[in-house]
Amino acid sequence: MTSLLHVVGARPNFMKVAPVLRAGAAIPGMRQYLVHTGQHYDAAMSDRFFTDLGLPTPDVNLGVGSGSHAVQTARIMTEFEPVLDRLAPDWVVVYGDVNSTMACTLVASKKSVRVAHVEAGLRSRDRDMPEEINRLVTDVLADLLLTPSRDANENLAAEGVPSERVHLVGNVMVDTLLHLREKARALNAPEAHGLAGKAYAFCTFHRPSNVDHAGTLGEILGALDDLAKRMPVIFPIHPRTRQRISEFGLGHLAERVTLLDPLSYLDTVSLVDRSTLVLTDSGGLQEETTVLGVPCLTARPNTERPVTITEGTNRLVPSERAGINAAIEDVLRLRSNGGFRPGRPEGWDGRASERIVALLDRV
Ligand code: UD1
Repeated sequence: MTSLLHVVGARPNFMKVAPVLRAGAAIPGMRQYLVHTGQHYDAAMSDRFFTDLGLPTPDVNLGVGSGSHAVQTARIMTEFEPVLDRLAPDWVVVYGDVNSTMACTLVASKKSVRVAHVEAGLRSRDRDMPEEINRLVTDVLADLLLTPSRDANENLAAEGVPSERVHLVGNVMVDTLLHLREKARALNAPEAHGLAGKAYAFCTFHRPSNVDHAGTLGEILGALDDLAKRMPVIFPIHPRTRQRISEFGLGHLAERVTLLDPLSYLDTVSLVDRSTLVLTDSGGLQEETTVLGVPCLTARPNTERPVTITEGTNRLVPSERAGINAAIEDVLRLRSNGGFRPGRPEGWDGRASERIVALLDRV
């Protein structure tokens, strides 16, 4: 009998664990525990995702909350250690690149508990991103590296990781998206927002590099304001971004934009699915737009998800008003010419979670 302890902490983890838990439940005799570190704790950032995704109540919530990276990481480690001792799983399964992922990997590997990393091998090669540090540390320590795309295998091979530790399983975010797409469509969120049949843009921004500097945030908001003169712009806003707009006195640039509290998963998919374009700095949305066939402009100098560019609908743009505006023009022109041909990367087929639990059950 194999036992798995899944660790989640922040919003993007919830969509990734849901299909793996479901696939694990279908394996006879597999025991699963869900530990929520509490990195995200607002109802809109956490609880609503549990409902939408059909996630069980976590067996344990470490309740760590916010803090500097060091404080948050240390708290997660301290609180996780006794839980790990008590539950003594065969595997700790960690997801993505958030602080909770790295913190629990460190604790488990020092206790010689095997770690499986879902979404291993992604690299932005930008160590100013806290997530890149988390990816590097997690992948050095994890015993099993479960990758979403072939570029991730190539990154790990270039870092000298033995190939027996690496398995290309595909993308678990896509498992969730395909599982819930029809339910999200049926919700018809555009209609609830008065957008049925209209062209509109959907955007999210929360990365420190975009929102923690008044100049950069002002450039991005300027571009959104320009776009809002042409079509509705829907902006569900992360708590960090809301704080910064008010702190920097940039509210006047957000007047034409429709600012919403963070949305549930189903509302997000429902709105993205029918949108004309997405502007973002999120990792997950780069993938979701590729699968939904919606053009995505990512305001970052790099991406750890290059297949969304080479095979999908994503394009990088500078975090600067004129550059974003020019890219929007291109997208709108391409859309109206019908010159828009999205593809789907290998292994983004809705079966990644099944491959993951089959592997964990075997090794
Ligand atoms: C984290 C992840 C990021 C992911 C994002 C998705 C890391 C390093 N970063 O960033 O990769 O894209 O989640 O949302 O783990 N806050 C609240 N309520 C909450 C959570 C956060 O108000 O429920 C506010 C707090 O002011 C907090 C700030 O947001 O200090 C940042 O939260 P934190 O968890 O540190 O990182 P995120 O920016 O959310």
